[in-house]
Amino acid sequence: MGFVQMEMKPCFTQSMRFLLLLAFQTLTAGYRVETIPGFLQPVVGAWHRNVTLPCHIEPQLSAVGLQVRWFREGSEKPVHLHRYGRDDPALQDGAYQGRTRLFEEELASGNVSLRLSDLQLSDSGVYRCLVQGDRWEDERNVTLLIPVSGSQPRVSVDRTGRPRLVCRSEGWFPQPEVTWRDKRGGVATPHTRHSQDEQGLYTVISDLELQRQSDVFSCMVTAEGPGGASKLHIAEDFYPPMSSWMMLFFLMVGFVSIFIPVVIRAWRRLNVRYKNACNSVTVRLGKELAALKQPIKSEWSSIRGYAATVTLDPCTAYNRLVLSADRKQVYMAEKRLKLPVDARRFKHFPYVLGKESFSSGSHYWEVEVGQKPWWCVGVCRMFVNRSREMETTPSHGYWTLELRGEETCRGGGASLHVRRRPHKVGVYLNYEDGQVSFYNAETTSLIHTLSDHFTEALCPFFCTGVIGGNIPLIICPIEAGTSP
Ligand SMILES: *[C@@H]1O[C@H](CO)[C@@H](O)[C@H](O)[C@H]1NC(C)=O
Ligand SMILES: *[C@@H]1O[C@H](CO)[C@@H](O)[C@H](O)[C@H]1NC(C)=O
Ligand SMILES: *[C@@H]1O[C@H](CO)[C@@H](O)[C@H](O)[C@H]1NC(C)=O
Repeated sequence: MGFVQMEMKPCFTQSMRFLLLLAFQTLTAGYRVETIPGFLQPVVGAWHRNVTLPCHIEPQLSAVGLQVRWFREGSEKPVHLHRYGRDDPALQDGAYQGRTRLFEEELASGNVSLRLSDLQLSDSGVYRCLVQGDRWEDERNVTLLIPVSGSQPRVSVDRTGRPRLVCRSEGWFPQPEVTWRDKRGGVATPHTRHSQDEQGLYTVISDLELQRQSDVFSCMVTAEGPGGASKLHIAEDFYPPMSSWMMLFFLMVGFVSIFIPVVIRAWRRLNVRYKNACNSVTVRLGKELAALKQPIKSEWSSIRGYAATVTLDPCTAYNRLVLSADRKQVYMAEKRLKLPVDARRFKHFPYVLGKESFSSGSHYWEVEVGQKPWWCVGVCRMFVNRSREMETTPSHGYWTLELRGEETCRGGGASLHVRRRPHKVGVYLNYEDGQVSFYNAETTSLIHTLSDHFTEALCPFFCTGVIGGNIPLIICPIEAGTSP
């Protein structure tokens, strides 16, 4: 009775499992479990276990009162001696002391089997049982095997000198054999060494020189003889130094080790840049937010810092316009006034200019329009044509904000969407920037800005309007640096 134990525990390293599987299939397909020839009907015991060595005398006779002697082949001292109806340990081999017994109750049926307990590796061998009667004796030979299956074979590559595959396995009994197979099932010829430890267990080391075309190998360690165990190790793809796969692997390692820091650095840079961008955006937004709160005030006060003294010029006033004594107010009378003829006077519309003219700098003034349904304020070129009817548009030299009996104001001749009609209009001229801005001086909000390129002197311009002209336009005093 023997057994073949085949353990397959492929030891994977990192790569190419699929190849390994392929190889595994190839190997297992080609591997046959061998049956054990039964010439000795050996008994297979297990290390540190008990075993019964069978012996039965033929023909069936009682062994009671007979001498039963168990020998170890090649040893004089009996393993077990039974005579005169009892066991006699005096002559017994010391190695078996206390470990042997016969089955007393079986002796009558000629069963002289020996119970051997706590098996040692050294117990392996051929035993003979000898039954001696007065005139006859009988003997039987029994082989005891105590195979010990060793460790799973490990395969490694030894690169000292020419690269070799080394298969190593420990703890075998009896001495094992090593069989190498390559992918095609061919048996390679290895160099195998054995060593035995103090317990009698064998260590086997087998090495195989790697060929250029080496691929997948299996290392099978088999305990010798019937009953021996087998263990199989499938080594994965072993290639001789720097195969194309290895080259690829190292290339990849190299590539990755170069590439990863680059990526990391780039990522960090991007991150920093992104953070900086975020920061600058945050800072800018913060500034803009702050500016949004402040600006009107600061801008407003700076605008008001450009407060100009504006007085009406009676020489330019249309002949129905009545100017106040301080030349700060104007309204339209019912009838024409008797005024001196003047070329500077507007002939067709209730217009009047400021006495001041601006050809540089910034200037700001405020005009109260109140509830007037029709008005127009702003600036115009100093030398606008006053004898012809002209629209108050930039193309004719007027940059104005006006209301003409409608709901919304017009700026530069175009309709504006102004939510609230201003009662007091702030006119801000920045000559150099070519800007005329109109503010609601009460709410300090910007109504409209006209942009142009100024080349001539500009004068403050006023129109009382045709309808509701009797309601005065009033140039308001501005105290610089204070809010209204
Ligand atoms: C002898 O006795 C042992 C123990 O009882 C038993 O296991 C064995 O089968 C017997 N052998 C035969 C041949 O009867
Ligand atoms: C083996 O035999 C010894 C003594 O004969 C006994 O104490 C022990 O329990 C046995 N072990 C087994 C596993 O049967
Ligand atoms: C037992 O083995 C010994 C030595 O190997 C041999 O001389 C003997 O004939 C054998 N006995 C039997 C019964 O096979």
